[in-house]
Amino acid sequence: MKCIIVVNAYIRNKSQLAQAQRIAEELTLLGADCKIIKNINLAEIQLGKILAVKADLCVFLDKDKATARLLEKSGVKLYNCAEAMEICDDKMLTHIALANNGIPMPDSVYAPLCYYGDAQIDKDFFIGVEKLGYPLVAKKCFGSLGAGVFLIKNRYELENFENANKLVAHFYQKFIGIGGEDIRVIIIDGKYVCAMKRTNKCDFRSNIDLGGQGEKIEADGKLIELCERTAEILNLDYCGIDILTDGNGNMYVCEVNSNAFFAEAERVCGVNIAKKYAELIIASKNA
Ligand SMILES: Nc1ncnc2c1ncn2[C@@H]1O[C@H](COP(=O)(O)OP(=O)(O)O)[C@@H](O)[C@H]1O
Ligand SMILES: [Mg+2]
Repeated sequence: MKCIIVVNAYIRNKSQLAQAQRIAEELTLLGADCKIIKNINLAEIQLGKILAVKADLCVFLDKDKATARLLEKSGVKLYNCAEAMEICDDKMLTHIALANNGIPMPDSVYAPLCYYGDAQIDKDFFIGVEKLGYPLVAKKCFGSLGAGVFLIKNRYELENFENANKLVAHFYQKFIGIGGEDIRVIIIDGKYVCAMKRTNKCDFRSNIDLGGQGEKIEADGKLIELCERTAEILNLDYCGIDILTDGNGNMYVCEVNSNAFFAEAERVCGVNIAKKYAELIIASKNA
């Protein structure tokens, strides 16, 4: 079985390469002919037809939706599938996909698309956003490792943020909990694998890259059910789900990572996540 693991063409992030190597290792142990390749010249359209690299399956660790769709349309099976990856890449699209399915999420207000740098923002928009209460959270739709997530404490900061970011897709969200805490849950093949609590004493964002510390936790039935249902709705083979909790025992899906880095979860929880992912890939391809 020929398998490619696709990483970004301009890869700099060591964690992405390490992730690719771990998955390759485990797939190779299961007998796959596995190769890590950069997203360069993987597919093109000639005479109206897609010509793509030959492979039975592809673990797609990039976020390049066009290449993902080209590979899929040429017959390569992708993990995760292109549509699921696209939806998860855009935090607001993830929220919309999960909405009306009984999945609790922080209240969110989308900022309208804007094409003009000198556009005046309607005061009613700010009044609508402020219903979330201060502090609130501003998020760019595309971003990871906490880089596009900001705390907004008052109208002055809200106006400044909106003006500076009006040309970029973003939204505002109710602040949940005490800050600097969330739970990362790994789901593979629709089933709960492990969970860790992430705590950051220096930042309201608990991402490991920003100094968050992981600690293994035993998820209860309610958390497992919420995360398995979330992965099912989004049609994900593999994902890491970020869960926020408030002081009243309520849980909220914060975001869903279709390419969640698993090194810290493997280390903290003592689970071979790469192996479980590789097993799912081989089993589903053989099915
Ligand atoms: N609504 C929120 N209330 C409180 N904290 C939040 C909220 N949204 C995000 N955070 C914090 O910021 C971190 C990063 O946000 P997240 O939406 O997961 O973006 P990223 O893709 O950058 O990880 C979360 O892990 C959490 O600690
Ligand atoms: Mg996150």
